[in-house]
Amino acid sequence: EEAAAFRRRLHRWYKQHSRDLPWRTTRDPYRILVSELMLQQTQVSRVLDFYRRFLERFPDLESLAKARPQRVLEAWEGLGYYARARNLHKLAKHVTSSPSGIIPSEPVELQALPGVGAYTAGAVASFAYEKRAALVDTNVARVLHRVFAPELNPKSGPGLRRLWQLANELLPRTGKVTWTHNQALMELGALVCSARAPKCTVCPVKRQCASVERFVGGD
Ligand code: ADE
Repeated sequence: EEAAAFRRRLHRWYKQHSRDLPWRTTRDPYRILVSELMLQQTQVSRVLDFYRRFLERFPDLESLAKARPQRVLEAWEGLGYYARARNLHKLAKHVTSSPSGIIPSEPVELQALPGVGAYTAGAVASFAYEKRAALVDTNVARVLHRVFAPELNPKSGPGLRRLWQLANELLPRTGKVTWTHNQALMELGALVCSARAPKCTVCPVKRQCASVERFVGGD
């Protein structure tokens, strides 16, 4: 079956080619959340240093909740898009004063938090809690669009909805395997199926990709 072959090839490729990134060796929801918010509009290479320093200053949700707004913005200085930092601070105060005091694990509950959209909700559910949740960011959208649905417009409302549906249909059976599957989709988008010059010759799923001809010679 096509979906199974896609998952198997992607999984095998990830095991061999993925980068060691700090947010891939933790399941701490707070750390995952910080990484995903930073990564929303900023490249991995730029995020690494900020991520480390931010967590030194604010090692957990409680320390962040208690911080002065100015100190939070200082720690975010240089990353830009400061609404992310303000929302994160708001979220920390909100969650620490909630009855459970913990970051929720269900995408619907996550999406109710400040600054958390469908993508971040899926990322926290999958990467922190190993839930069987789909996630579609620009990297994943590009991969799924090219491989399975080149005819649709990934920037339109209906196109994006179809990509979320596809991402859901492709999910492995368990949350544990879904963790790797989701990381692998993003990693393929970042390292191989890049926006400008995809490296189709080294792509693990080129045999089943509907767009490979368009890019021949493109790497
Ligand atoms: N971009 C967004 N989330 C990411 C992750 N977990 N790893 C690498 N790049 C990402």
